[in-house]
Amino acid sequence: MQKTNNGNNHSKPIGVFDSGIGGLTVVKNIMQSLPHEDVIYFGDLARLPYGTKSVATIQKFARETVKFLLKQNVKAIVIACNTIASVAKDTVVELAANIPVLDVITSGSEDSIKNGAVINRTIGVIGTSVTINSNAYTNTIYHLSPNATIITKACPLFVPLIEEGLLDHPALELIAQDYLNSFIQLNLDCLVLGCTHYPLIQNIIQKIIGSNVRLIDPAVSTVLKLQQLLESHDMLNLKHELGSYSFFVTEISRTFKQIGETFLNKSISKLELVTLE
Ligand code: DGL
Repeated sequence: MQKTNNGNNHSKPIGVFDSGIGGLTVVKNIMQSLPHEDVIYFGDLARLPYGTKSVATIQKFARETVKFLLKQNVKAIVIACNTIASVAKDTVVELAANIPVLDVITSGSEDSIKNGAVINRTIGVIGTSVTINSNAYTNTIYHLSPNATIITKACPLFVPLIEEGLLDHPALELIAQDYLNSFIQLNLDCLVLGCTHYPLIQNIIQKIIGSNVRLIDPAVSTVLKLQQLLESHDMLNLKHELGSYSFFVTEISRTFKQIGETFLNKSISKLELVTLE
């Protein structure tokens, strides 16, 4: 993430991408912490969920998306998808060349050690099957803190249910109970929401896991890092008015605009259907 492309970067947008609505958790934090930045959001709605696909397929999708974002002339790229970050970060970094790349796994892991694992050094991580099977969180957290205990669990049904808009449906709660039961007796210090969709259902997760377990939303620390990067490399947008947000999707879904507007508390007016090459 230390690469920077100095030059007239101030007014260029930030590129943020995910398979679907999950990356809006990053956008929301950008709105709050970097209100003058313009954002290009890309959601690959036609091909989600990514979390059950093969590594080769996810890398291909990531390549296509980054090419699209580079055409939009972005000054930085945020991989707002743990699944992509877990198996295709190198692909993104290589293609992005001199454009800095930030990702949710690096920031979320650091945050879990710094602010989460403060009592028993026991960290839970939930994510898609690809993210959990990649061991990306386990490896990154161990590297930062070799004596941490890390317990992971794939929760593959969360993303389809969230994209379907069933955010407070009893079925979601039942499934969440089943997924999270194994964590309950483990004295976790924190639970990393290792999929950017999960903060949308954090109330249900917190209710099941108990109020003494701190939930780590990697979007928060990722945007903090983004802010530090833009500040330290003189890349902040210097305009006085609020940033503009353009949303590009590969499918117009029934729920993206509706859930997105509720979650962001902002109307999604620039929504465009695109085909990737
Ligand atoms: N939001 C993505 C993540 O953080 C995953 C969604 C998917 O499975 O498509 O992993």
